[in-house]
Amino acid sequence: MNGKTEGDIQSGAVPDHVPPHLVKHFDFRTGLADRPQEIIARLHEGPPIFYSPVRHTMGSGAGMWVITRASDIRAVMSAPEVFSSSIQGEFLAAIGETIRLTPLDADPPLHGRFRALLNPLFTPKRMVELETLIRARCAALINRFEHRRSCEFIAEFATQFPTGVFIDLMGLPGERLDLFVGWAREFIHGETAERRIAAVRQIVDYFRALYLMRDGYGDDSILAYLLGRSEGVSLTEDEFCSLAFLLFSAGLDTVVSSLGFIFRFLAENEHPQSRLRADRKHIPRHVEEMMRLFAPVTPQRIATRDTVLSGVAIRKGDCLALSLAAASRDPAEFPDAGSFHAERNPNPHFAFGYGPHRCIGAQLARRNIAIAVEEWLTRLPPFRLAPDQQIVATGGSVLSLDGLSLVWG
Ligand code: HEM
Repeated sequence: MNGKTEGDIQSGAVPDHVPPHLVKHFDFRTGLADRPQEIIARLHEGPPIFYSPVRHTMGSGAGMWVITRASDIRAVMSAPEVFSSSIQGEFLAAIGETIRLTPLDADPPLHGRFRALLNPLFTPKRMVELETLIRARCAALINRFEHRRSCEFIAEFATQFPTGVFIDLMGLPGERLDLFVGWAREFIHGETAERRIAAVRQIVDYFRALYLMRDGYGDDSILAYLLGRSEGVSLTEDEFCSLAFLLFSAGLDTVVSSLGFIFRFLAENEHPQSRLRADRKHIPRHVEEMMRLFAPVTPQRIATRDTVLSGVAIRKGDCLALSLAAASRDPAEFPDAGSFHAERNPNPHFAFGYGPHRCIGAQLARRNIAIAVEEWLTRLPPFRLAPDQQIVATGGSVLSLDGLSLVWG
Protein backbone atom coordinates (compact mmCIF):
# COMPACT_ATOMS: atom_id res chain seq x y z
CA MET A 1 0.00 0.00 0.00
CA ASN A 2 3.02 2.21 0.20
CA GLY A 3 2.96 4.73 -2.62
CA LYS A 4 5.03 7.48 -1.17
CA THR A 5 7.49 9.20 -3.44
CA GLU A 6 9.29 12.45 -3.03
CA GLY A 7 8.12 15.48 -4.90
CA ASP A 8 4.54 14.32 -5.23
CA ILE A 9 3.14 16.68 -2.61
CA GLN A 10 1.99 19.69 -4.54
CA SER A 11 -0.94 21.99 -4.55
CA GLY A 12 -3.12 21.85 -7.62
CA ALA A 13 -5.66 24.34 -8.89
CA VAL A 14 -9.16 24.16 -7.45
CA PRO A 15 -11.62 23.04 -10.16
CA ASP A 16 -14.45 25.47 -10.99
CA HIS A 17 -17.22 23.21 -9.70
CA VAL A 18 -15.82 23.25 -6.14
CA PRO A 19 -17.59 25.89 -3.99
CA PRO A 20 -15.02 28.10 -2.22
CA HIS A 21 -16.47 27.35 1.23
CA LEU A 22 -15.61 23.68 0.74
CA VAL A 23 -11.92 24.31 0.02
CA LYS A 24 -9.62 23.43 2.88
CA HIS A 25 -5.90 22.82 2.62
CA PHE A 26 -5.40 19.48 4.32
CA ASP A 27 -2.39 17.29 3.81
CA PHE A 28 -2.41 13.66 4.94
CA ARG A 29 1.38 13.54 4.67
CA THR A 30 2.60 16.44 6.69
CA GLY A 31 1.43 18.48 9.63
CA LEU A 32 -0.24 15.57 11.44
CA ALA A 33 2.25 15.73 14.31
CA ASP A 34 2.74 12.47 16.18
CA ARG A 35 -0.96 11.69 16.75
CA PRO A 36 -2.40 11.80 13.25
CA GLN A 37 -5.74 10.14 14.04
CA GLU A 38 -6.48 12.79 16.69
CA ILE A 39 -5.79 15.61 14.24
CA ILE A 40 -7.88 13.88 11.58
CA ALA A 41 -10.76 13.42 14.06
CA ARG A 42 -10.93 17.21 14.42
CA LEU A 43 -12.08 17.35 10.79
CA HIS A 44 -15.54 16.46 12.15
CA GLU A 45 -15.75 20.04 13.42
CA GLY A 46 -15.90 21.23 9.77
CA PRO A 47 -17.83 20.18 6.66
CA PRO A 48 -18.05 16.38 6.29
CA ILE A 49 -16.84 16.60 2.70
CA PHE A 50 -14.29 19.19 1.64
CA TYR A 51 -11.84 19.72 -1.20
CA SER A 52 -8.14 19.77 -0.41
CA PRO A 53 -6.05 21.19 -3.26
CA VAL A 54 -3.07 19.14 -2.09
CA ARG A 55 -2.14 16.62 -4.73
CA HIS A 56 -1.70 13.33 -2.89
CA THR A 57 -0.91 10.82 -5.58
CA MET A 58 1.27 10.65 -8.60
CA GLY A 59 -0.42 10.96 -11.92
CA SER A 60 -3.72 12.37 -10.76
CA GLY A 61 -4.37 15.98 -11.64
CA ALA A 62 -5.28 18.36 -8.88
CA GLY A 63 -6.36 17.77 -5.31
CA MET A 64 -8.94 15.51 -3.73
CA TRP A 65 -12.26 15.46 -2.02
CA VAL A 66 -11.70 14.37 1.57
CA ILE A 67 -14.57 12.26 2.93
CA THR A 68 -14.78 12.06 6.70
CA ARG A 69 -18.26 10.94 7.70
CA ALA A 70 -18.92 7.22 8.30
CA SER A 71 -22.20 7.23 6.35
CA ASP A 72 -20.55 8.88 3.29
CA ILE A 73 -17.64 6.46 3.41
CA ARG A 74 -20.06 3.53 3.42
CA ALA A 75 -21.90 5.04 0.44
CA VAL A 76 -18.69 5.54 -1.57
CA MET A 77 -17.17 2.17 -0.73
CA SER A 78 -20.38 0.34 -1.66
CA ALA A 79 -20.61 1.92 -5.11
CA PRO A 80 -17.59 0.82 -7.17
CA GLU A 81 -19.43 1.59 -10.40
CA VAL A 82 -19.46 5.30 -9.45
CA PHE A 83 -16.30 5.47 -7.35
CA SER A 84 -13.60 3.41 -9.01
CA SER A 85 -10.54 1.95 -7.27
CA SER A 86 -8.45 2.19 -10.44
CA ILE A 87 -6.49 5.13 -8.95
CA GLN A 88 -5.02 2.96 -6.18
CA GLY A 89 -2.04 1.35 -7.86
CA GLU A 90 -0.96 4.43 -9.78
CA PHE A 91 2.51 4.59 -8.33
CA LEU A 92 3.40 1.28 -10.01
CA ALA A 93 2.53 2.61 -13.46
CA ALA A 94 4.32 5.86 -12.64
CA ILE A 95 7.56 3.99 -11.97
CA GLY A 96 7.17 1.93 -15.14
CA GLU A 97 6.02 -1.38 -13.62
CA THR A 98 3.51 -3.34 -15.68
CA ILE A 99 1.94 -5.07 -12.70
CA ARG A 100 -1.13 -3.69 -10.95
CA LEU A 101 -2.46 -4.04 -7.40
CA THR A 102 -5.27 -6.40 -8.43
CA PRO A 103 -7.80 -6.86 -6.81
CA LEU A 104 -7.21 -3.67 -4.75
CA ASP A 105 -7.20 -1.40 -7.80
CA ALA A 106 -9.77 -3.35 -9.83
CA ASP A 107 -13.49 -2.72 -10.28
CA PRO A 108 -16.23 -5.23 -11.08
CA PRO A 109 -16.24 -7.63 -12.82
CA LEU A 110 -12.43 -8.03 -12.75
CA HIS A 111 -12.35 -7.39 -9.01
CA GLY A 112 -14.76 -10.27 -8.33
CA ARG A 113 -12.67 -12.69 -10.38
CA PHE A 114 -9.47 -11.99 -8.44
CA ARG A 115 -11.20 -11.74 -5.09
CA ALA A 116 -12.76 -15.18 -5.68
CA LEU A 117 -9.31 -16.50 -6.48
CA LEU A 118 -7.90 -15.21 -3.17
CA ASN A 119 -10.84 -16.06 -0.90
CA PRO A 120 -9.92 -19.75 -0.39
CA LEU A 121 -6.51 -18.65 0.88
CA PHE A 122 -7.90 -16.79 3.87
CA THR A 123 -10.28 -19.32 5.41
CA PRO A 124 -10.52 -19.56 9.23
CA LYS A 125 -8.98 -23.06 8.96
CA ARG A 126 -5.89 -21.72 7.19
CA MET A 127 -5.57 -18.94 9.72
CA VAL A 128 -5.59 -21.47 12.58
CA GLU A 129 -2.94 -23.53 10.78
CA LEU A 130 -0.74 -20.45 10.48
CA GLU A 131 -1.07 -19.50 14.12
CA THR A 132 1.71 -21.73 15.45
CA LEU A 133 4.14 -20.36 12.87
CA ILE A 134 3.14 -16.78 13.64
CA ARG A 135 3.66 -17.30 17.35
CA ALA A 136 7.08 -18.80 16.71
CA ARG A 137 8.05 -15.80 14.53
CA CYS A 138 6.98 -13.47 17.27
CA ALA A 139 8.88 -15.36 19.96
CA ALA A 140 12.06 -15.47 17.85
CA LEU A 141 12.01 -11.68 17.48
CA ILE A 142 11.44 -11.09 21.19
CA ASN A 143 14.35 -13.47 21.97
CA ARG A 144 16.69 -11.02 20.29
CA PHE A 145 16.03 -8.14 22.67
CA GLU A 146 14.38 -9.70 25.70
CA HIS A 147 17.64 -9.64 27.72
CA ARG A 148 18.00 -5.91 27.13
CA ARG A 149 15.73 -3.41 28.79
CA SER A 150 14.76 -1.60 25.64
CA CYS A 151 14.14 -1.96 21.94
CA GLU A 152 13.42 0.14 18.90
CA PHE A 153 9.98 -1.35 18.40
CA ILE A 154 9.36 -0.37 14.76
CA ALA A 155 12.73 -1.53 13.41
CA GLU A 156 13.33 -4.52 15.68
CA PHE A 157 9.83 -5.90 15.86
CA ALA A 158 7.02 -4.26 13.87
CA THR A 159 8.73 -4.26 10.46
CA GLN A 160 10.11 -7.77 10.80
CA PHE A 161 7.03 -9.51 12.17
CA PRO A 162 4.64 -9.19 9.18
CA THR A 163 7.48 -10.03 6.80
CA GLY A 164 7.96 -13.34 8.62
CA VAL A 165 4.22 -13.95 8.48
CA PHE A 166 4.28 -13.27 4.74
CA ILE A 167 7.07 -15.84 4.25
CA ASP A 168 5.01 -18.44 6.12
CA LEU A 169 1.77 -17.48 4.41
CA MET A 170 3.27 -17.75 0.95
CA GLY A 171 5.25 -20.91 1.68
CA LEU A 172 8.66 -19.37 1.00
CA PRO A 173 11.70 -20.99 2.62
CA GLY A 174 12.75 -19.47 5.97
CA GLU A 175 16.18 -18.51 4.67
CA ARG A 176 14.51 -15.95 2.43
CA LEU A 177 13.45 -13.99 5.50
CA ASP A 178 16.47 -11.66 5.72
CA LEU A 179 16.14 -10.83 2.04
CA PHE A 180 12.49 -9.88 2.43
CA VAL A 181 13.08 -8.00 5.69
CA GLY A 182 15.69 -5.89 3.87
CA TRP A 183 13.30 -5.15 1.01
CA ALA A 184 10.46 -4.43 3.44
CA ARG A 185 12.66 -1.96 5.35
CA GLU A 186 13.62 -0.16 2.14
CA PHE A 187 10.07 -0.26 0.80
CA ILE A 188 8.67 1.42 3.92
CA HIS A 189 11.55 3.47 5.30
CA GLY A 190 13.95 3.87 2.33
CA GLU A 191 15.46 7.35 2.65
CA THR A 192 14.97 8.35 -0.95
CA ALA A 193 12.33 7.67 -3.58
CA GLU A 194 14.99 5.84 -5.61
CA ARG A 195 15.66 3.42 -2.78
CA ARG A 196 11.98 2.72 -2.24
CA ILE A 197 11.44 2.21 -5.96
CA ALA A 198 14.48 -0.08 -6.12
CA ALA A 199 12.92 -2.21 -3.35
CA VAL A 200 9.68 -2.50 -5.34
CA ARG A 201 11.65 -3.61 -8.39
CA GLN A 202 13.60 -6.22 -6.45
CA ILE A 203 10.44 -7.69 -4.96
CA VAL A 204 8.66 -7.80 -8.33
CA ASP A 205 11.73 -9.30 -10.03
CA TYR A 206 11.88 -11.98 -7.35
CA PHE A 207 8.27 -12.96 -8.12
CA ARG A 208 8.93 -12.87 -11.86
CA ALA A 209 11.78 -15.34 -11.38
CA LEU A 210 9.55 -17.57 -9.26
CA TYR A 211 6.89 -17.51 -11.96
CA LEU A 212 9.37 -18.66 -14.57
CA MET A 213 11.14 -21.28 -12.43
CA ARG A 214 8.04 -22.61 -10.65
CA ASP A 215 10.26 -23.73 -7.82
CA GLY A 216 11.29 -22.66 -4.33
CA TYR A 217 8.05 -22.83 -2.37
CA GLY A 218 6.03 -25.39 -0.41
CA ASP A 219 3.72 -27.80 -2.26
CA ASP A 220 0.66 -26.87 -0.24
CA SER A 221 1.44 -23.16 -0.23
CA ILE A 222 -0.26 -20.04 -1.56
CA LEU A 223 2.45 -19.76 -4.19
CA ALA A 224 1.77 -23.28 -5.38
CA TYR A 225 -1.91 -22.42 -5.58
CA LEU A 226 -1.32 -19.21 -7.50
CA LEU A 227 1.15 -20.86 -9.83
CA GLY A 228 -1.45 -23.22 -11.08
CA ARG A 229 -1.22 -26.33 -8.97
CA SER A 230 -4.91 -25.94 -8.26
CA GLU A 231 -7.62 -26.60 -10.75
CA GLY A 232 -8.99 -23.52 -12.46
CA VAL A 233 -6.11 -21.21 -11.51
CA SER A 234 -4.17 -19.96 -14.48
CA LEU A 235 -2.46 -16.61 -14.22
CA THR A 236 -0.24 -14.66 -16.58
CA GLU A 237 3.15 -13.54 -15.26
CA ASP A 238 1.88 -10.01 -14.60
CA GLU A 239 -1.28 -11.27 -12.90
CA PHE A 240 0.71 -13.57 -10.65
CA CYS A 241 3.24 -10.86 -9.77
CA SER A 242 0.43 -8.38 -9.10
CA LEU A 243 -1.22 -10.73 -6.61
CA ALA A 244 2.03 -11.71 -4.92
CA PHE A 245 3.16 -8.10 -4.67
CA LEU A 246 -0.21 -7.01 -3.28
CA LEU A 247 -0.19 -9.75 -0.65
CA PHE A 248 3.28 -8.62 0.37
CA SER A 249 2.57 -4.88 0.42
CA ALA A 250 -1.03 -4.89 1.72
CA GLY A 251 -0.08 -6.86 4.82
CA LEU A 252 3.14 -4.98 5.46
CA ASP A 253 2.96 -1.27 6.24
CA THR A 254 -0.64 -1.63 7.46
CA VAL A 255 0.47 -4.12 10.10
CA VAL A 256 3.68 -2.21 10.94
CA SER A 257 1.61 0.92 11.37
CA SER A 258 -1.13 -0.69 13.47
CA LEU A 259 1.43 -2.38 15.72
CA GLY A 260 3.23 0.95 16.19
CA PHE A 261 0.12 2.87 17.27
CA ILE A 262 -1.20 0.01 19.39
CA PHE A 263 2.05 -0.61 21.25
CA ARG A 264 2.48 3.10 21.87
CA PHE A 265 -1.02 3.17 23.32
CA LEU A 266 -0.25 0.20 25.58
CA ALA A 267 3.08 1.70 26.61
CA GLU A 268 1.38 4.96 27.53
CA ASN A 269 -1.58 3.44 29.32
CA GLU A 270 -0.88 1.30 32.30
CA HIS A 271 -4.47 0.24 32.88
CA PRO A 272 -5.18 -1.70 29.66
CA GLN A 273 -1.73 -3.25 29.83
CA SER A 274 -2.23 -4.53 33.38
CA ARG A 275 -5.77 -5.65 32.62
CA LEU A 276 -4.56 -7.74 29.70
CA ARG A 277 -1.70 -9.15 31.75
CA ALA A 278 -4.26 -10.28 34.32
CA ASP A 279 -6.62 -11.82 31.78
CA ARG A 280 -5.63 -12.59 28.19
CA LYS A 281 -9.19 -13.23 27.09
CA HIS A 282 -9.78 -9.47 26.81
CA ILE A 283 -7.08 -9.12 24.14
CA PRO A 284 -9.30 -9.47 21.01
CA ARG A 285 -11.75 -6.77 22.22
CA HIS A 286 -8.89 -4.46 23.14
CA VAL A 287 -7.26 -5.01 19.75
CA GLU A 288 -10.54 -4.21 18.01
CA GLU A 289 -10.98 -0.95 19.88
CA MET A 290 -7.34 0.02 19.29
CA MET A 291 -7.81 -0.74 15.58
CA ARG A 292 -10.75 1.67 15.62
CA LEU A 293 -8.83 4.42 17.38
CA PHE A 294 -5.79 4.09 15.14
CA ALA A 295 -7.24 3.16 11.73
CA PRO A 296 -4.23 3.82 9.50
CA VAL A 297 -5.39 3.57 5.88
CA THR A 298 -6.79 6.32 3.63
CA PRO A 299 -7.95 4.55 0.44
CA GLN A 300 -8.66 6.55 -2.69
CA ARG A 301 -11.31 6.45 -5.35
CA ILE A 302 -11.94 8.26 -8.63
CA ALA A 303 -15.43 9.27 -9.81
CA THR A 304 -16.46 7.53 -13.03
CA ARG A 305 -19.29 10.00 -13.67
CA ASP A 306 -20.83 13.19 -12.35
CA THR A 307 -22.65 12.47 -9.13
CA VAL A 308 -23.81 14.02 -5.87
CA LEU A 309 -22.59 12.87 -2.45
CA SER A 310 -24.45 14.25 0.56
CA GLY A 311 -25.43 17.32 -1.42
CA VAL A 312 -21.92 17.96 -2.81
CA ALA A 313 -21.46 17.83 -6.60
CA ILE A 314 -18.62 15.52 -7.57
CA ARG A 315 -17.47 15.56 -11.21
CA LYS A 316 -16.28 12.66 -13.33
CA GLY A 317 -12.52 12.31 -12.79
CA ASP A 318 -12.51 13.86 -9.31
CA CYS A 319 -10.38 11.98 -6.78
CA LEU A 320 -11.58 11.11 -3.29
CA ALA A 321 -9.54 10.38 -0.15
CA LEU A 322 -11.60 8.19 2.18
CA SER A 323 -10.41 8.93 5.68
CA LEU A 324 -11.05 5.68 7.52
CA ALA A 325 -9.41 7.27 10.56
CA ALA A 326 -12.05 10.02 10.56
CA ALA A 327 -14.92 7.60 9.89
CA SER A 328 -13.79 5.34 12.73
CA ARG A 329 -13.94 8.33 15.09
CA ASP A 330 -17.20 9.75 13.74
CA PRO A 331 -19.12 10.99 16.79
CA ALA A 332 -22.40 10.36 14.96
CA GLU A 333 -21.72 6.61 15.11
CA PHE A 334 -19.28 6.08 17.96
CA PRO A 335 -20.24 7.59 21.33
CA ASP A 336 -17.23 9.23 23.02
CA ALA A 337 -15.41 8.50 19.76
CA GLY A 338 -11.99 9.82 20.80
CA SER A 339 -11.73 7.63 23.90
CA PHE A 340 -10.78 4.02 24.38
CA HIS A 341 -13.65 1.79 25.48
CA ALA A 342 -12.65 -1.86 25.49
CA GLU A 343 -16.26 -2.92 25.98
CA ARG A 344 -17.51 -1.14 22.86
CA ASN A 345 -19.82 -3.67 21.24
CA PRO A 346 -20.66 -3.73 18.42
CA ASN A 347 -17.62 -1.93 17.10
CA PRO A 348 -18.24 -1.46 13.36
CA HIS A 349 -15.10 0.59 12.72
CA PHE A 350 -13.57 1.15 9.29
CA ALA A 351 -9.94 0.17 9.86
CA PHE A 352 -10.34 -2.73 7.42
CA GLY A 353 -12.51 -0.80 4.97
CA TYR A 354 -16.05 -1.53 3.89
CA GLY A 355 -17.85 -3.04 0.90
CA PRO A 356 -16.43 -5.26 -1.84
CA HIS A 357 -12.79 -4.30 -1.21
CA ARG A 358 -13.02 -4.90 2.54
CA CYS A 359 -9.66 -6.25 3.69
CA ILE A 360 -9.29 -9.91 2.86
CA GLY A 361 -6.51 -10.24 5.43
CA ALA A 362 -8.51 -8.72 8.31
CA GLN A 363 -8.73 -11.95 10.33
CA LEU A 364 -5.07 -12.69 9.78
CA ALA A 365 -4.13 -9.14 10.81
CA ARG A 366 -6.28 -9.29 13.95
CA ARG A 367 -4.72 -12.60 14.96
CA ASN A 368 -1.19 -11.33 14.23
CA ILE A 369 -1.70 -8.30 16.40
CA ALA A 370 -3.41 -10.24 19.18
CA ILE A 371 -0.56 -12.79 19.18
CA ALA A 372 2.02 -10.00 19.26
CA VAL A 373 0.31 -8.38 22.25
CA GLU A 374 -0.05 -11.71 24.02
CA GLU A 375 3.57 -12.74 23.49
CA TRP A 376 4.87 -9.36 24.64
CA LEU A 377 2.81 -9.44 27.80
CA THR A 378 3.87 -13.01 28.51
CA ARG A 379 7.57 -12.52 27.86
CA LEU A 380 8.28 -9.00 29.06
CA PRO A 381 7.48 -7.04 32.21
CA PRO A 382 5.36 -3.88 31.93
CA PHE A 383 6.79 -1.73 29.13
CA ARG A 384 6.59 2.01 28.64
CA LEU A 385 7.85 4.71 26.32
CA ALA A 386 11.56 5.49 26.51
CA PRO A 387 11.87 8.98 28.01
CA ASP A 388 12.74 12.02 25.91
CA GLN A 389 12.05 10.51 22.54
CA GLN A 390 10.61 12.55 19.74
CA ILE A 391 7.92 10.37 18.12
CA VAL A 392 7.32 11.26 14.49
CA ALA A 393 4.32 10.15 12.45
CA THR A 394 4.18 10.16 8.68
CA GLY A 395 1.07 10.21 6.59
CA GLY A 396 0.04 9.32 3.07
CA SER A 397 -2.14 6.38 2.19
CA VAL A 398 -1.00 4.67 5.41
CA LEU A 399 -0.43 6.70 8.59
CA SER A 400 2.49 5.39 10.61
CA LEU A 401 5.09 6.04 13.28
CA ASP A 402 8.67 6.36 12.08
CA GLY A 403 10.10 5.04 15.32
CA LEU A 404 9.09 3.98 18.81
CA SER A 405 11.51 3.25 21.63
CA LEU A 406 10.15 1.07 24.41
CA VAL A 407 11.75 0.29 27.78
CA TRP A 408 10.93 -2.15 30.57
CA GLY A 409 12.26 -3.44 33.85
C1 HEM B 1 -3.82 -4.11 10.44
C2 HEM B 1 -3.55 -4.50 9.22
C3 HEM B 1 -4.38 -4.18 8.01
C4 HEM B 1 -5.17 -3.10 7.74
C5 HEM B 1 -5.44 -1.90 8.64
C6 HEM B 1 -5.72 -3.30 6.42
C7 HEM B 1 -6.61 -2.44 5.81
C8 HEM B 1 -7.17 -2.64 4.56
C9 HEM B 1 -8.14 -1.78 3.95
C10 HEM B 1 -8.69 -0.51 4.55
C11 HEM B 1 -8.45 -2.32 2.75
C12 HEM B 1 -9.47 -1.76 1.73
C13 HEM B 1 -8.82 -0.83 0.76
C14 HEM B 1 -9.82 -0.22 -0.21
O1 HEM B 1 -11.02 -0.33 -0.05
O2 HEM B 1 -9.35 0.41 -1.16
C15 HEM B 1 -7.67 -3.51 2.58
C16 HEM B 1 -7.69 -4.32 1.46
C17 HEM B 1 -6.88 -5.43 1.31
N1 HEM B 1 -6.05 -6.01 2.25
FE1 HEM B 1 -5.75 -5.32 4.12
N2 HEM B 1 -5.25 -4.48 5.91
C18 HEM B 1 -4.43 -5.06 6.85
C19 HEM B 1 -3.76 -6.27 6.75
C20 HEM B 1 -3.77 -7.08 5.65
C21 HEM B 1 -3.09 -8.35 5.54
C22 HEM B 1 -2.27 -9.01 6.65
C23 HEM B 1 -3.31 -8.82 4.28
C24 HEM B 1 -2.84 -10.09 3.60
C25 HEM B 1 -1.77 -10.71 3.80
C26 HEM B 1 -4.14 -7.86 3.59
C27 HEM B 1 -4.57 -7.97 2.30
C28 HEM B 1 -5.45 -7.10 1.70
C29 HEM B 1 -5.89 -7.25 0.32
C30 HEM B 1 -5.46 -8.35 -0.65
C31 HEM B 1 -6.78 -6.21 0.08
C32 HEM B 1 -7.53 -5.92 -1.22
C33 HEM B 1 -8.91 -6.54 -1.13
C34 HEM B 1 -9.79 -6.20 -2.34
O3 HEM B 1 -9.49 -5.25 -3.05
O4 HEM B 1 -10.76 -6.92 -2.54
N3 HEM B 1 -4.41 -6.83 4.46
N4 HEM B 1 -6.90 -3.70 3.71
